[in-house]
Amino acid sequence: MSSAAVSAAPIAASQVPVAASPAMREVIEAARDVAPTLTTVLLLGESGTGKELLARFLHAESRRPGPWVAVNCAALPAELLESELFGHEKGSFTGAFERRAGRFEQAQRGTLLLDEISELPLPLQAKLLRVVQEREVDRLGGQRPVPVDVRVIATSNLDLGEMVQRGLFRSDLYYRLNVFPIVLPPLRDRLEDLPALATALIADASRELGRPAPLLDEAALAALRVNPFRGNVRELRNMLERALVRCRGPVLGAAHLGLSVGGGQAPALHALKEMRPPAALSLDGREAPTPHTPTLDGRRALALQGDLPLDLGELERLAIAEALRRVRGNRTHAARLLGIGLRTLRNKLRTYREAGVNVEAAEPAAGQLWPSASIAADEISQPWRGALRARTSQEETSEETS
Ligand SMILES: Nc1ncnc2c1ncn2[C@@H]1O[C@H](COP(=O)(O)OP(=O)(O)O)[C@@H](O)[C@H]1O
Ligand SMILES: [Mg+2]
Repeated sequence: MSSAAVSAAPIAASQVPVAASPAMREVIEAARDVAPTLTTVLLLGESGTGKELLARFLHAESRRPGPWVAVNCAALPAELLESELFGHEKGSFTGAFERRAGRFEQAQRGTLLLDEISELPLPLQAKLLRVVQEREVDRLGGQRPVPVDVRVIATSNLDLGEMVQRGLFRSDLYYRLNVFPIVLPPLRDRLEDLPALATALIADASRELGRPAPLLDEAALAALRVNPFRGNVRELRNMLERALVRCRGPVLGAAHLGLSVGGGQAPALHALKEMRPPAALSLDGREAPTPHTPTLDGRRALALQGDLPLDLGELERLAIAEALRRVRGNRTHAARLLGIGLRTLRNKLRTYREAGVNVEAAEPAAGQLWPSASIAADEISQPWRGALRARTSQEETSEETS
C-alpha cells in the first residue's frame, strides 16, 4: 500500500541521533533505558525534532527480532487506515478481494511506529486501545482475534493532553500511550547540538552528492545560531543540503546558507515569509501541515497587509479572530496574545455572539498547535513546554467549558 504511509526499511548503524546537549543526552539515555522493555513509548515534540529517528533508534536498541513497521496516521483516510492497521478478511468490505494482515500483525515481535497519533480518528482510537490493552487484533470481518507481540511507539507534535480536554482524543488511550513519554526539545532550546548536528548532516549530504564534505566556517555557525529553526533539525538539514549544492569549495560559509552574518535571514526574504499565511510557512518541505481553509475572518485577517479595514471595531474583531485561530480557540492564550484580560475577551465575544457574529469558528491549522509564523520563537516554545508538562490551570479548564 501507500509507501508514503508505511515504511519497513532497516535502520542504518549510523542513524544514532546526534546528542551533544545535556537535554538530548538525557533523551538518549531515557531511550536506551526503555528500549529493551515492552513499554509503550510516546515521543513528543515539534515537527522536525527527530521523533522518527529516535523511534528507529529505540527499535534498533530493543534487539527485538521482528521488523520495524511505521504507519503515518495522517497519511491515510480513516477507511483505509483501519484495514491498514488491523487487517481484513476476504470479502469484509467491497474491494477486499483477499485476506490481508494489518501492520500490527506484520510487526510481530518487532516495533510498530504510529506516527502522528493525534490524527487517528476517534473510532479507531477505541480499536487501538483494545489492541494495546489486550495485545490482540481483530481483523475487519474476522471471526477471532489474533494475538500480537508488538512494541508500540507513538509520536505527536500536538499536545495530546489538550486534545483530550477538547474531546478530540480519548483519555483512556492517552493514558495508555503516555506510560513513558519522551519529549524532544526544539532545536532552538539546545543550540549546543548545532555544531555536531551540522557536521553530521553535512557529512551525510556530501556522501549522497559524492563529494568531500566541506567545513562549516565560524561565521556560518554564528549565523545558524541565531536562526529561529521553527522547522527544527529538518529545517537545518534542508538548509545545509541547499547550501551544499551551491558550495564548490572546501568551506561552507554564511553566504551559501543564504544567511547574513549579522544574524537571521536576509530582511527581504524574512518579510516575504511573514506575509504568507501560517499553514504555508512550514519550513520543512516534507511535513508541511495540511493547508487549512481559513474562515472568512481568518482570511481577511491574513490579508490585512494589503486590504486594511479602517473601522476600529472591525479591526479589533479581526485581531480577536486571528488570535483565537492561532491558539486553536484557547481563550486564555488568545487574551495573552492580544494583550487584554480574559474577562475582556469573554465580554467582547459575548457582544459578538449577541450580534450574531461568530469569530470563534476558525479552524486551526492541521498539524499545528501553536502557530509557526509571525510570532517570536519564545512565544511558541513557552506554551509548548508548559503543555507538555500536562499542566492545565484551573482557569483554562473552566474557561473551555464556558
Ligand atoms: N539528533 C539528530 N541527529 C541527527 N539527525 C537528526 C536528529 N534529529 C533529527 N534529525 C534528522 O532531521 C530530520 C527530521 O527528523 P524526524 O525524525 O523525521 O523528525 P520528526 O519525526 O520529529 O518530524 C531527519 O532527516 C532526521 O534524520
Ligand atoms: Mg515525523
